[in-house]
Amino acid sequence: MSEVRNKSELNEEIKRLYSIGLQTKCAGRSLEDIAGLTARINKLKKEKNAVICAHVYQIPEIICGIGDIIGDSYRLAAESRNTNAETIIFCGVHFMAETAKILNPEKKVYIPSLKAGCSLSEGITAEDVIKLKAAHPGAPVATYINTSAGVKAESDVIVTSANAEKILRKLYEKHEKIIFVPDKFMGLNLAKSLGKTPGKDLILWNGSCIVHEHFDSKLIKTYRKNYPGIVALAHSECPSEVINAVDFMGGTGDMLKYIQNTNASAYLLITECGLGELARIKFPDKNFIAMCRLCPYMKSITLENVLATLENPMPEQEINVPADIADKARRALDKMFELGI
Ligand code: 13P
Ligand code: SF4
Repeated sequence: MSEVRNKSELNEEIKRLYSIGLQTKCAGRSLEDIAGLTARINKLKKEKNAVICAHVYQIPEIICGIGDIIGDSYRLAAESRNTNAETIIFCGVHFMAETAKILNPEKKVYIPSLKAGCSLSEGITAEDVIKLKAAHPGAPVATYINTSAGVKAESDVIVTSANAEKILRKLYEKHEKIIFVPDKFMGLNLAKSLGKTPGKDLILWNGSCIVHEHFDSKLIKTYRKNYPGIVALAHSECPSEVINAVDFMGGTGDMLKYIQNTNASAYLLITECGLGELARIKFPDKNFIAMCRLCPYMKSITLENVLATLENPMPEQEINVPADIADKARRALDKMFELGI
């Protein structure tokens, strides 16, 4: 049913992919190979009334070839609520798909890879949050979106890289102490921006992202020497030494906006490699140097496993959240939407 019918259909798809900026080869694979898969996926999406959410760390073939809702964690969560499709296929990691399910309980949500976890999400449990709350009674829990539904359910408000500082600032209007989990580096960066003392007014958890914790701040100096005028941007999950050495810190959405609104001779992107690949496609006239690392979880999603999920999903690929946990987690997510981006 979903087979690409003839050569001219395939050529049309190749042309479409080329015109949106995919090169004739992506990661050593020909555009013809890619087009065969994207054309089948795009047909199946229509037949099955499905929509594809794609995080900006996904490979360009997924973002540009089959993505319908594309963005950072905030945008994907917010926009998943506006689709009329019955099914959401999530090209990102498990906590993102789970968030989409919590926000859209009536829809079917699938994750194409069972390996698409996240070190931050896996580094904390609901019980850990319950213990933190008992140790710091009255302190609200602001939880980074990179967490499980169970952790979200024990939280007062969810934040993303796009709104954490703004939401914490609002919480500090009414509270002296806040619990922020699970990313210790983001927590330390927030404490610095907000003028708060970690361990005293901002209680942190010892979680980290396996991609962002390993960047080397010393290399930034070398890049600056080799590329005069370069502007360095780092994700807020990076350690403080990296953040102190760059010109801009933010989430992936903020980084793309910054690039759009500025005119540097070149940009050094310190984050997962997918953002640099996307930036090159979105801003073909700008120069990018990627000091990047791959996220093995994000990169476990492929065109092949997306196609297989659409054709014949395995029961384990469907995201389900018990109703009582989903209700509590949704309250914390709604609080985020209320406090704004
Ligand atoms: P963003 O919300 O900034 O896209 O971050 C998601 C993430 O997983 C970063 O590692
Ligand atoms: Fe999680 Fe880090 Fe991968 Fe983002 S880049 S999904 S925080 S492991």
